[in-house]
Amino acid sequence: MNLLVTAGATREPIDPVRYLTNRSSGKMGYAIASAGAQLGHRVTLISGPTSLDIPSHVDFIPVETAQEMLEAVKLKIGGKDAAIFSAAVADYRPASVSDSKIKKTADALTLELVQNPDILGSARHQFKYDGILVGFAAETENLETNAREKLRQKECDLVVANDISKKGIGFDSDHNEVLLVYPEHTRPIPIDSKERLAHTLLQAIHELKVVGS
Ligand code: PMT
Repeated sequence: MNLLVTAGATREPIDPVRYLTNRSSGKMGYAIASAGAQLGHRVTLISGPTSLDIPSHVDFIPVETAQEMLEAVKLKIGGKDAAIFSAAVADYRPASVSDSKIKKTADALTLELVQNPDILGSARHQFKYDGILVGFAAETENLETNAREKLRQKECDLVVANDISKKGIGFDSDHNEVLLVYPEHTRPIPIDSKERLAHTLLQAIHELKVVGS
């Protein structure tokens, strides 16, 4: 298969030294990209900044901001059998970026934020992508209901839902525990290493491809 994977956190600059980001380490997405390459798939990995080694035998595209990730996905998604969006994209960015370092003058500072583009939500209509679309859902409550809502809104074939309020899984952990949420059913996957989960997910995607072809 030809796979596209997004991974890691985006960085949204405030000034030349500061940025907004989140706790994504990139481990989940890199595990998927790496498992894909090991299985002989062609993998394009679009990643925000991480401290991880680039997996072998992948087409690696580094990006920083959500806008850059959007442009890279737009350029690369065509013709992919499956697109897997595991990146934690910042939903908001500073409305303006200061050219010089913001000085500590006032007691309080208000930062105005504007919404970033929804990359996963752009796949079907803006990018006209018709392959297997896999989103992630990072939730702290109503895991299955919220994931199912994302599945429907973004027209995904599968949403991988993780409860990021649970200790020992999700952000910056070596393990994860997920629900695979399909349009008609849900399959719980017990806690496992991100490497083994990546293989389970690719098997699930392979099964979707077989059924769809
Ligand atoms: O990187 P790790 O430390 O290994 O952690 C893994 C993880 C917790 C980051 C991963 O398992 C995960 O849950 N990734 C999705 C994080 C997220 O941003 O979820 P969300 O529910 O806010 O977004 C839903 C989906 O839309 C995701 O597929 C996301 O990539 C995508 N999205 C979100 C916002 C946006 N502007 N554009 C997007 O494409």
